[in-house]
Amino acid sequence: MGWIVQEYREDDLASVVHLIDTTSGLGPDSVFTVSECITALTARQPAVVARRDGEVIGAALATVAEGRAWVMRIAIAPSLRGLGLASSLLLALERRLVEMRVRRIAYVLPEEDLLQEGLVNAGYDRRPAVAYFEKVEPVDDRAADVLERLGGRVLPGDLWSRLAGMEEEKTLIERRVVLPLADPERAERHGVEPPRAIALFGPPGTGKTTFARGIASRLGWPFVELLPSRLADSGNLAAALREAFARIAELDRVVVFIDEVEEIAPVRQFESSAPPGGTHSVTNELLKLIPAFRERNERLLVCATNSVRSLDPAFLRPGRFDYVIPIGTPDNAARRAMWARKAHGRRPDVDLEALVRASELFTPADIDHAARIAAQASFERDLERGPAAAVSTGVAGAGTQDYLEAVAQCRPTVTPGMVADFQVDITTHARV
Ligand SMILES: Nc1ncnc2c1ncn2[C@@H]1O[C@H](COP(=O)(O)OP(=O)(O)OP(=O)(O)O)[C@@H](O)[C@H]1O
Ligand SMILES: [Mg+2]
Repeated sequence: MGWIVQEYREDDLASVVHLIDTTSGLGPDSVFTVSECITALTARQPAVVARRDGEVIGAALATVAEGRAWVMRIAIAPSLRGLGLASSLLLALERRLVEMRVRRIAYVLPEEDLLQEGLVNAGYDRRPAVAYFEKVEPVDDRAADVLERLGGRVLPGDLWSRLAGMEEEKTLIERRVVLPLADPERAERHGVEPPRAIALFGPPGTGKTTFARGIASRLGWPFVELLPSRLADSGNLAAALREAFARIAELDRVVVFIDEVEEIAPVRQFESSAPPGGTHSVTNELLKLIPAFRERNERLLVCATNSVRSLDPAFLRPGRFDYVIPIGTPDNAARRAMWARKAHGRRPDVDLEALVRASELFTPADIDHAARIAAQASFERDLERGPAAAVSTGVAGAGTQDYLEAVAQCRPTVTPGMVADFQVDITTHARV
């Protein structure tokens, strides 16, 4: 024995942190990180220390929320383990907690932690059915500030799996882009350098933005969209772009998306007539920013355009953009998947083949729009029938006829001429 247990004092911080640091390697990682422990200590959450000859040899700390305390750590100098010090610390901590009117004290331990038995002896019930699941959001406080200023955010984790159809594009992007970034060691073993910048091109509404967001979601990286129109608000687009990239450099990992990039990097044909600060200097600025962006790991620039042929040819060259990927209108299988997603949840009797045939050249955006018209028609029919009818018919939602009528009302955004141009663009610009 020979120790005394006392309440934690501010000037114990350094010794307690040292103790936590030096003992954390002894067992599997605690649920609470060292920095969370420091935050709790500085916020004067309840904590006690054990001292021998004035030296801190043990500490126990908790954090209290809504009448429940979580024991964060019990840290004991390695040479003093097994002497009952943990129990003394826990008892003293409990006394503090009870004074604060805490009624429930929880301590989440790794399965194999030696303290388990001591806890049972101290009157703690082990909740056998509890499994602790944890998801660490990829953004810390500092990154959250930077993200907020950039208007970026962490997207939901399921966007990639919500992309219907487009199997060819999905497989391509997954293999070339997502997986090398997600597993760089494996890529490295094969001499594959993860891509740093890609361009997506294709007609409007084919899913370029959706793919960019899907990539960020799949990687679990924050997503920052730079809008040329908003950056231009400050009056100097080149400077705004430079500033945005400087902020982006503060993030550990990020997917940066620039939509309608042809506004920033159009063909530099008006060189002599362009006003100072016009798009020419903006193109140059972006061309200068990309190499620095490419130097760091765990970042990806995605640029999208409807009009790849109006981009400055130097802009997309290899070394700047690793891949230039066409995203076209969905083929039959992709449209079937999209219609199935729209229709089958409610009405498995909808004739998908009929919809697939009727919606040739429809983009995902067109399909969304037609599905909305069909759903609305079904809803209005229901309103006309009155409340009782809805219950008695049992079937709810648009049927095949509703969808076919909706499709007939919509004009596909993409015309055969656009498809022909896109085919030419694929041969002249695509690099996959
Ligand atoms: N694979 C997909 N599955 C389901 N919905 C999709 C898919 N791709 C796109 N969509 C939907 O289609 C609409 C248009 O997609 P998106 O905005 O990504 O197109 P875009 O190519 O970026 O268009 P634009 O060129 O006009 O910027 C969105 O509502 C999106 O949710
Ligand atoms: Mg878009």
